[in-house]
Amino acid sequence: SWSMANVLEEQIQIVKEKVGETNHVICALSGGVDSCVAATLVHRAIGDRLHCCFVDNGLLRYKEAERVMVMFKNELHLPVDCVDITEKMLSELKGVSDPERKRKIIGKEFIECFKEYKKTVEKKTGVVPKFLVQGTLYPDVIESCPPPGSDQKHSHTIKSHHNVGGLPKELGFELIEPLRVLFKDEVRRLGKIMDVPRNFVARHPFPGPGLAVRILGDVTENNALETLRLVDEIYINAIKEFGLYDEIWQAFAVHLPIKSVGVQGDQRSHSHVVGLRAITSNDGMTADWYPFEPKFLQEVSNRITNQVRAVNRVVYDITSKPPSTIEWE
Ligand code: XMP
Repeated sequence: SWSMANVLEEQIQIVKEKVGETNHVICALSGGVDSCVAATLVHRAIGDRLHCCFVDNGLLRYKEAERVMVMFKNELHLPVDCVDITEKMLSELKGVSDPERKRKIIGKEFIECFKEYKKTVEKKTGVVPKFLVQGTLYPDVIESCPPPGSDQKHSHTIKSHHNVGGLPKELGFELIEPLRVLFKDEVRRLGKIMDVPRNFVARHPFPGPGLAVRILGDVTENNALETLRLVDEIYINAIKEFGLYDEIWQAFAVHLPIKSVGVQGDQRSHSHVVGLRAITSNDGMTADWYPFEPKFLQEVSNRITNQVRAVNRVVYDITSKPPSTIEWE
């Protein structure tokens, strides 16, 4: 029968046979559900011949690296190294406003970092790691094999999602994709039976380029990263507190490249505007904006403007996809 316990056993067996007794395997953990569940499964199959790398690209949410590293190590006992490329990444992104250029730069830096990690593992083990774990899901498999005549090419050039299709072939890995047969909700169930914490498997998706596509304009200016992290943390915590997190597919804040006039304290201020977005969706391809109660929006707006000095105006995005996309760039 198609029970998750059977899927788990079957996939563990497949990984064991594929990797054999001596090969080593590496995995890039993104902090998302899919790569984490895939790595946990592979770890069960081959133990510490798995080497995971979590890249802090400088574009992560509030305390993200700290929080996921604690969970990987203390709760899942995964062998994971955190590689911090913040400085390099931000220096490459300085002065860049075009969304597609941002994505290209971020993708390139990530690949560079991963090449280095491959060498690190080789040095540590004396063996060139031959396999790469990826959290590819069934819908990714279908999407990357479009039926003839479909308009996939066009839709892919709207945004170049650098993690779709995975790392480039030149890295010379054979892929291990234990989630290829599963949908997202099944991956969550699989995670649960391997004791991946509940609050982790229920996480909203987060884009590879991170906060860089949620800061319109130059990411390195105006303390935008710091401001956005605080705003996002307040917003997400409120969503959880009001019991709405699991009803929403994705929620996040956006830092806008404009200032508006306000009164903060007794003083006229000229500060930043942030946008809040929350959507419901089944697959991210289409989405509806989430109809929060006015009381919730009022509370969040108060908290943000009271706690984050750099912000004096909060707006809520009431556009569905289409015509908007989920992210603002
Ligand atoms: P859009 O904005 O295209 O988003 O409606 C659809 C889903 O994809 C995520 N997204 C990305 N994920 N790299 C990623 O890994 C990207 O460059 C990227 N852009 C958008 C977005 O968060 C949503 O879940």
